[in-house]
Amino acid sequence: MAQSKPEQSRLIIHDLARRNGRTEFARDVRSGLSSYPKQLFPKYLYDELGSRLFEAICEVDEYYLTRAEDKILTSYADEIVRAIPNCKTLIELGSGSAQKTRKIIEALIRGCGELLFIPVDISATALEKSSHALLDSYPNLKINAYAADYFEALEALPPLGPDPALVLFLGSNIGNFEPDEAVDFLSAIRRVLRRQDALLLGADLKKDARTLEAAYDDSLGVTRAFIVNELERINRELDANFDLWAFGLRSLYNESAGRVEVYLESLRSQDINIRGLDMSISFDAGERIHMENSYKFDLNGLKLLGRRSGFDLERTWLDEEKLFSSNLFRVPEA
Ligand code: TRP
Repeated sequence: MAQSKPEQSRLIIHDLARRNGRTEFARDVRSGLSSYPKQLFPKYLYDELGSRLFEAICEVDEYYLTRAEDKILTSYADEIVRAIPNCKTLIELGSGSAQKTRKIIEALIRGCGELLFIPVDISATALEKSSHALLDSYPNLKINAYAADYFEALEALPPLGPDPALVLFLGSNIGNFEPDEAVDFLSAIRRVLRRQDALLLGADLKKDARTLEAAYDDSLGVTRAFIVNELERINRELDANFDLWAFGLRSLYNESAGRVEVYLESLRSQDINIRGLDMSISFDAGERIHMENSYKFDLNGLKLLGRRSGFDLERTWLDEEKLFSSNLFRVPEA
């Protein structure tokens, strides 16, 4: 009887995120809430509960992005992987539950029979869960996972074997960087890639403000829960007393900047105590904390972003409704 190798010999998880997680969080919360306007860092949205709330966002009606990208990957995964013949290594930054990734994994295994998957995620729990689920589904898969910041992980990656590798950056994560940071980030990916490798980048497209604002403020309130969970995390980990009901979600499309801006707005004037930081902060009624930007793209912008980062945009796939794009970037010939 054919037997797959035991799971533990196919899985390694490196936990780099735990190392200095707490001091960094404390430092970033202090500096963000002391600045004007106030801001908090989006990477702290994704603790264990936050990662699960984000999974729920992907299921609400208004958040079309995940479904659109999933349709693209379902229709074109074979075509996409054909562009990287003999690819035996798949790296994914921000893998989360790795649901959409399955389409690519399956296409690659159909092509080569075996695959090394290197997922990177800030949440060790999300990594562990998704890794076990994937190993269960694919007996010819090996996983070498990194719980880490993207930049940290890119530096820690093992040397890539002789065969081509594909890097995935799915969802709309590229939109959460400022334009210059996006270039720095893609350049960091570019540095670990060789001529034979490629990057598949998900990017949400510019569209009408109503659709965009609803995607970031759904009527079930899942996005609000996801966002106020960062305040709850400050309560929990830094002994603060934020009243979560005293903040409302404001998601606004800034058309000239091409981005959805996500804020929490203080519904009254209030003082907050953060005992763990030995700090108190006051809010005026209507004062906002900036939580996240989500930039939207067009094809020209994507080409330019690639060029500034040392990549050529080789091909773009869209869903039928042209809501979302999957973009294959290549290392240009010298
Ligand atoms: N990367 C996702 C995006 O930009 C993250 C996200 C979805 C998000 N909904 C959000 C971030 C709401 C902040 C607020 O689409």
